[in-house]
Amino acid sequence: MCGIVGAIAQRNIVPILLEGLQRLEYRGYDSAGLVVVSEGQLTRMRSTGRVAELSNISADIQGTIGIAHTRWATHGVPSERNAHPHMSRDLIAVVHNGIIENYEAIRTRLVAGGYEFASDTDTEVIAHLIHSHYVNGKTLLGATQAALTELVGAYAIGVIASDNPDQLICARRGSPLLMGIGIGENFFASDVSALLPVTNKVVYLEDGDVVEMGRQSYRIRDAAGEIVARPVQFSEISNESVQLGNYRHYMQKEIHEQPRAIADTLESVSNSHSIVPGIFGAEAAACFADIDSILILACGTSYHAGLVARYWLEEIAGIQCTVEIASEYRYRTSVANPRALVVVLSQSGETADTQAALSHAKSLGHVHTLAICNVPESALVRQSKLRFLTRAGPEIGVASTKAFTTQLVALFLLTLVLAKLRGRLTAEVEQLHLHSLRHLPAATQKVLDLEPQIAKLAEQFACKRHALFLGRGLHYPIALEGALKLKEISYIHAEAYPAGELKHGPLALVDKDMPVISVAPNDMLLEKLKSNLHEVRARGGELYVFADAGTHIREEEGVHIMQMPEHAGFLSPILHTIPLQLLAYYVALQKGTDVDKPRNLAKSVTVE
Ligand code: AGP
Repeated sequence: MCGIVGAIAQRNIVPILLEGLQRLEYRGYDSAGLVVVSEGQLTRMRSTGRVAELSNISADIQGTIGIAHTRWATHGVPSERNAHPHMSRDLIAVVHNGIIENYEAIRTRLVAGGYEFASDTDTEVIAHLIHSHYVNGKTLLGATQAALTELVGAYAIGVIASDNPDQLICARRGSPLLMGIGIGENFFASDVSALLPVTNKVVYLEDGDVVEMGRQSYRIRDAAGEIVARPVQFSEISNESVQLGNYRHYMQKEIHEQPRAIADTLESVSNSHSIVPGIFGAEAAACFADIDSILILACGTSYHAGLVARYWLEEIAGIQCTVEIASEYRYRTSVANPRALVVVLSQSGETADTQAALSHAKSLGHVHTLAICNVPESALVRQSKLRFLTRAGPEIGVASTKAFTTQLVALFLLTLVLAKLRGRLTAEVEQLHLHSLRHLPAATQKVLDLEPQIAKLAEQFACKRHALFLGRGLHYPIALEGALKLKEISYIHAEAYPAGELKHGPLALVDKDMPVISVAPNDMLLEKLKSNLHEVRARGGELYVFADAGTHIREEEGVHIMQMPEHAGFLSPILHTIPLQLLAYYVALQKGTDVDKPRNLAKSVTVE
């Protein structure tokens, strides 16, 4: 959840660290700090709040080696004393992303050995542990390796020592970390976007790797301490793709990128006359032939994508599908079906609960695994047998938008592949689906054109404290996603219900102050939905209806209609998501919240 960056160069690296932190800020933003070695001393600056505050106070610092951190608090409140880097006796400095589970026992031992703690964090034990080994004669590398053997939990760390201005150490287990290679300079970071201003030549580190970096060279050791060569890659992510451009917020930019993101995700099928299992990996055909059900594991927005897919998979492919919240599944004693395909859905590919759920599924005997993910080389991708990479591009806003719609595209492709293998898709129907998919980017663009109307509508929400979202069938998960978006960035309490469930309880909440937002596709459940909406209106509830063309729901007092294009059949949930994303965005603007970095949240939830 935190972001780390480090650099060793022949020039002043402070601007590189600050720029890197700015780009990692989406990972955590309650405090930030950096430390450099200059004239044999560690010079550290830390501040609560945003990286901008740190930049203001770091103007006079210079150094050619340093490490930096932007924090999402786990142990200890957001404060300057808990902000990283943490130091041990002015000799060792450490930045850390992850959680050290056994830090209390280590801390007690270190305190008994005379170490004084200056923070409430789990990270500080790493600094003191490395110090204890370093002053006992080990090299900085040896001291770091020795300390790491004592840690239980997840980490990506960067380490420097005041008496060693020519060496930077970094290491990872369970948290993402990559190296950047420059000319006469080297770097590390949690995410490639932090390094793009200085290099696109990168090495993704494996779990257990420890790296010694100098200015001209580096050496990677694996978990067994053996020197290893990891592939050097050139990141295809362009520097521009992580820039805000003319948009006001990343969320707005990412909402607008959806036609392009969907088109890119469909690239593997858009020029083809049929859909083949191979798009999910070389072993997909054999694997799909052996499965009899699907188990989807995910969190948050990704979980909602899984819920939509359940309707598709059961109706179109005729395959039984269960969708579970990863944080629950990982601790549940479930009955495993080894013939199920376990599908993990994740934008980041590093969500701790989803990773743990996948490991749990494997430990229960599941062998068929597929990751649908937006980040190549992420943990979930590496840990799954099959993979499908969505092509949304970097998603920076904490609220997930284009990752969700591209996940849906991937899940629809999975549905079609399985339907075909199971003899439930004629060539003719396959062509119809392919046609609709090819048209999807244009259809998405048409929905985006509703933006000015939705911005106007949002004005009516700024004073609301609660909201209810309704959907039915395939669109119930879209109501859930709309509610999540609204609460996440506007802090308005929002709940979503399948509309038929209203009269079983939630109708009691409806009065004139309760806006009820309904997704109204022109599908077979429309008439049922209309009856549910009458129930709301009869209790004085104010209705906001996103209605497909042809639904004949009339605008009248207390009923506001947002006119959507014609019904898009099975792909309708993708289109109906977009106005709800825009609604949340514009309500958040009205309320003046920090849209891209909502309070208490972070982009990648790499802790439990
Ligand atoms: C959505 O807007 C969220 N910020 C959050 O629910 C997110 O979808 C969830 O944390 C899962 O993340 P992942 O897709 O990266 O695994």
